[in-house]
Amino acid sequence: MIQSALHAEILPKPHVAIIMDGSGRWALAHGLPRSEGHRAGVEAVRRVIAGALELGVGTLTLHSFSSGNWQRPPEEVARLFGIFEDFLFEEPSLWIERGIRATVFGRRDRLPASLLETIEYAENATSGCQRLHLRLAIDYSARQAILRAAEQLAAADSNVETPEARFERLLAEAGGETVPEVDLLIRTGGEQRLSDFMLWESAYAELYFTSVLWPDFTAEDLADALKEFHARDRRFGALATAV
Ligand code: IPE
Ligand code: IPE
Ligand code: MG
Repeated sequence: MIQSALHAEILPKPHVAIIMDGSGRWALAHGLPRSEGHRAGVEAVRRVIAGALELGVGTLTLHSFSSGNWQRPPEEVARLFGIFEDFLFEEPSLWIERGIRATVFGRRDRLPASLLETIEYAENATSGCQRLHLRLAIDYSARQAILRAAEQLAAADSNVETPEARFERLLAEAGGETVPEVDLLIRTGGEQRLSDFMLWESAYAELYFTSVLWPDFTAEDLADALKEFHARDRRFGALATAV
């Protein structure tokens, strides 16, 4: 008990990012339309948020819709946006109770007005919460985000910050706050690729790939991933710490 309290105090709370993949294949395997896979995926999101709170995660970033996903059939895109909207409308009361601050990042100019409104509602409602920062990527492309930040950096004449600090703030896109680097990047669904997700922020992230399809992912699966993460030796280019 004392040991775990001490542990929690000493270790910084990790930033876990998840590429939630495999919902379409989950639906196919159950003889259901792809949209049912996305619906079942929301339950996995709820489980993982609860697990993240329990496991002392500081920031949880969930890849929800990539800019590349616009290439999907319009019905699937509309269904996904409907699911995001319902979710972001329903959850904030629980999030406030649990101390979860939610923010959404990615392009906003192509989203339906009603989704945009719900995003703003969820962000405003939870802005005072401090226990867990939940970040949802919607219409997100890491390359585009890097490019935009680079353009803004080039246009700026500030010499108050180092270029790197300023760049990271521009990249975060959220009211000037810097997002901590990703510590652990999980991808479900069996593919082993980054699909244009958090390329800058994951420079030294520990990668964890699992074949579990996203709708089947549980809080225990998250705990397993974190356990493996804590057992890894992160060197950041330096030598292993002396024992
Ligand atoms: C990930 O699941 C969710 C989104 C891309 C929105 P997929 O829909 O990519 O599921 P698979 O990869 O086809 O199984
Ligand atoms: C990545 O999954 C995007 C999300 C999980 C939101 P995709 O299914 O879109 O990635 P690819 O197409 O297999 O690379
Ligand atoms: Mg996929």
